[in-house]
Amino acid sequence: MSASVARPRRPLGVRARVAAKVNLALLVGARRADGYHELLTVLQSVALFDQLDVLPAPGGLGLEVEGTALPADEGNLVLVAAREIARKAGADQGARFRLRKGIPVAAGLGGGSADGAAALLALDRLWNLRLPPEELAAMAAEVGSDVPFCLTGGTSVATGRGEQLREVPASGTFWWVVGAAREGLTTAAVYRRHDELGPARPLVASGLDGLLAALADGDPERLAGTLVNDLERAAFRLRPGLALAKQRLVDAGAIGAVMSGSGPTMLGLCADRDHAHRVAKRAWSVFHRVRVAHTPVPGVIFETEAT
Ligand code: C5P
Repeated sequence: MSASVARPRRPLGVRARVAAKVNLALLVGARRADGYHELLTVLQSVALFDQLDVLPAPGGLGLEVEGTALPADEGNLVLVAAREIARKAGADQGARFRLRKGIPVAAGLGGGSADGAAALLALDRLWNLRLPPEELAAMAAEVGSDVPFCLTGGTSVATGRGEQLREVPASGTFWWVVGAAREGLTTAAVYRRHDELGPARPLVASGLDGLLAALADGDPERLAGTLVNDLERAAFRLRPGLALAKQRLVDAGAIGAVMSGSGPTMLGLCADRDHAHRVAKRAWSVFHRVRVAHTPVPGVIFETEAT
């Protein structure tokens, strides 16, 4: 007679939680020969998350998306990243992804880049590749300009087209009202309009000194006066209501406001969590959706195994 023996549960898959990003400063320089713009930007991961599950599959790559109408097609950065790591690492296994979106899409919050970063790290685990961080960062840069930052998260200055990172100190927690619009903006379209509006500004690293000092000191009042985004002008031309949305955050009591990335999401900086909730209550009507979220947080975190 055989007694039933509890078998150890085999890890079935991997579950990653990945954070959105915000740009506290986004200075846009010259357009390069490859079509990208030289940037000088300060990025922080913000506590808005997507969840990516990945399970082993017999062959090929599959993706299901929940929580938004985002297409699960070949252009989805989860699949772009998966193809990139499979090709570079010579992996011949398959994988099946399930993406639950919590980060608004085409919002300037790096949601697609976050998903690409999560896919790279999740497959590195699932396929037990143990790739060195530099190799993962190089693959991430192939997937998109913000993907290397989303791998690590935290607080960084980025240069080049956004892929060259230098971690910088940040103290404490900053609280934001994140005002999302109903319809997204296409990054490429915003950069195109930016080019039409005049010559690029020279990028001067010392232009970030005040912002970096405020971050290091954890001082929201000082940080508020240093928030800047060169793409606002172009985004406001494409979507005139955005200027009003930014002003509304200030009128509602935010100590500073700035657009994130190529927009249309607006960020209102607040003194603390309670203040952020008060501002959110006063400002909600101009936005499709308003959230309160803090910075910085880590980029990708692995949670329980996906089943
Ligand atoms: O790198 P990523 O695919 O996220 O960039 C999307 C688009 O944004 C690019 O095709 C380009 O038009 C624009 N872009 C840019 N300069 C950058 C980053 C992005 O012009 N530094």
